[in-house]
Amino acid sequence: MRLDAACAMATGKGRKECRDAVRKGFVTVDGAVVKKADTPVTRDNTVCLAGETLDLREHLYFMLHKPAGTVCTTEDTEESVLRLFPEKYRKRLFCVGRLDKDTTGLLLLTDDGDFDHRLMSPKHHAPKEYAVTLARPLSDTDCLTLEGGITLENGEKTQPCQVTKTGDASCRIVLREGKYHQVKRMLAAVSNRVTALHRCSVGGLPLDPLLAAGQYRELTPEEIALLSET
Ligand code: URA
Repeated sequence: MRLDAACAMATGKGRKECRDAVRKGFVTVDGAVVKKADTPVTRDNTVCLAGETLDLREHLYFMLHKPAGTVCTTEDTEESVLRLFPEKYRKRLFCVGRLDKDTTGLLLLTDDGDFDHRLMSPKHHAPKEYAVTLARPLSDTDCLTLEGGITLENGEKTQPCQVTKTGDASCRIVLREGKYHQVKRMLAAVSNRVTALHRCSVGGLPLDPLLAAGQYRELTPEEIALLSET
């Protein structure tokens, strides 16, 4: 890979900006300043831009314990989940699917479009498990109604899903699709209201219990393989 391309890939900056940085002497390869933008580099080289070592891996995969009050957006706003990550990753990463601002739990982030597509496309839709807290008790009939698939307020129909009561006014729902505000709208359709929503797992991968809200970690190669096969 060319040095300017490696810098662009690792930082999310434009190729031209990176080429200029190389020409101006801001980039080192294995400790030495290199000013030729087309110098070939591999992942075995240590490339630094303005003193910061670049991550030359082709793709990045993270799980985040999303805290309430954060937004799934790539816009650089105060509330963006990306603000929980170091700046060097912010231009690369995007969210795999979306969670509402008040929803907590497992959020995957990557820069791998194929990975995102496999997990989110309607064809492959990976199971997503939510712990739901409700304003009112949920009856067994409500569970069966939701499980069979229902018609939402705008006429959209939901696919069959699994609903397990976990308390008088709480349940676990496993969905294999991802309509806008789906869990909240499904519960509204049986005259209830979601008061707290937490995503426990995606594609069989549970949220790491060691991650407190706001913390993240990289996925292991085994976890990436598991999700890629979903
Ligand atoms: N369903 C919702 O209503 N909200 C979410 O954040 C996720 C699923």
